[in-house]
Amino acid sequence: MVGDLERGRQKVDWARAHMPILEGVRRRFENERPFDGLVVSMVLHVEAKTAALAMAIQAGGAKVHLAAGNPLSTDDDAVSALRAEGVHTLAEKGESLAAYRSAIDAMRDANPHVIVDDGADLVALVHNHPNGANRVRGSTEETTTGVTRLRAMERDGTLRFPAIDVNDAQMKHLFDNRYGTGQSTLDGIANATNLLIAGKVAVVAGYGWCGKGVASRLRGMGADVVVTEVDPVRALEARLEGFRVMPMLDAAAIADLIVTVTGNTGIVRSEHFRVMKDGCLLANSGHFDVEVSRTELEGMAVAHRPVRPHVVQYDFADGRKVYLLGEGRLINLAAGQGHPVEIMDLSFALQALSAEHIAKHGTKMAPKVHAVPEEIDQGVARAALAPFGVAIDEPTEEQRRYAKSWNLGT
Ligand code: ADE
Repeated sequence: MVGDLERGRQKVDWARAHMPILEGVRRRFENERPFDGLVVSMVLHVEAKTAALAMAIQAGGAKVHLAAGNPLSTDDDAVSALRAEGVHTLAEKGESLAAYRSAIDAMRDANPHVIVDDGADLVALVHNHPNGANRVRGSTEETTTGVTRLRAMERDGTLRFPAIDVNDAQMKHLFDNRYGTGQSTLDGIANATNLLIAGKVAVVAGYGWCGKGVASRLRGMGADVVVTEVDPVRALEARLEGFRVMPMLDAAAIADLIVTVTGNTGIVRSEHFRVMKDGCLLANSGHFDVEVSRTELEGMAVAHRPVRPHVVQYDFADGRKVYLLGEGRLINLAAGQGHPVEIMDLSFALQALSAEHIAKHGTKMAPKVHAVPEEIDQGVARAALAPFGVAIDEPTEEQRRYAKSWNLGT
């Protein structure tokens, strides 16, 4: 473990200084102590912004345990700062798969009342253990991938406690997925390669909220952006935004850079490697490292070797080479610093408030996937406007009645 405590503290202080919404929640938690006597286990990307969330929940009275949601995304300096604050943190950048898994096991063994999850890994784990879910009042989940898994468990009737779907809160996916993934994916690619984006043919696989963010940022940097999709509505949306849309087989043949953000598997595989141009860059910003098939890449290549930090070159028999960035794991965290701080302020304020909701009401909630309560989503939205100095109108009584009569929800 090579983390530096002073550097870690500086990083956490910087994050907290730019996370005013979460800091406001933390101050209220310090007074009200909604987690008094509770154990909270968290599996998240362990870095400075996550430290601010863990410390806010700890300030609310919880004993907090934290493990990494990805073996490459940890900031060891932040780990040092967390440990110094008494947060039980098991994470190390580049840890082995065995260490990564045993850290998540430890989160289950802490016997949590509340779970804060990313990718539903911990929720799945506690369900696979006979007593794992006994004390759990509920969980909060922040990724599209995790919510998909939770909904499948709800459909099968296996979900044993309520799970709050933070991902689908308006203040999450509209901002974190679009602007957070958009900016941080480009940061990660630039950091890994030091190459120019302008003028490149950049293929974005998937036009969900993350894909929209990545595509628009790439265009903003001067790339010629192509979108691939399986959903006809999203494909049309991308076309009407002005992007070229085509199947991956055609896109792969012209790409200088491919970024996957589908949340699905095997998006870039042998048939695509076969037609790629020499020097194509491959990056993933979806939650799991399954979007670019590393197994097929290794099977097809005659040799591979690291050529700079976060970049592995794969050589094919015909003399072409392609570069895989960040081992095909989330490039924004593997080679970058994750989402911008102000974006994580929104997402983690939602997480903290949703975790509080589970702590207070989880035992009375049905074992299914629940939306973030509207007052939480709206409260974070109002708080987020303040730093921009934006004031908005209040509807008049007449407008309220009119909206209600048409069920407009205002
Ligand atoms: N930093 C902490 N958690 C993150 C996430 N889920 N995505 C990007 N950056 C993060």
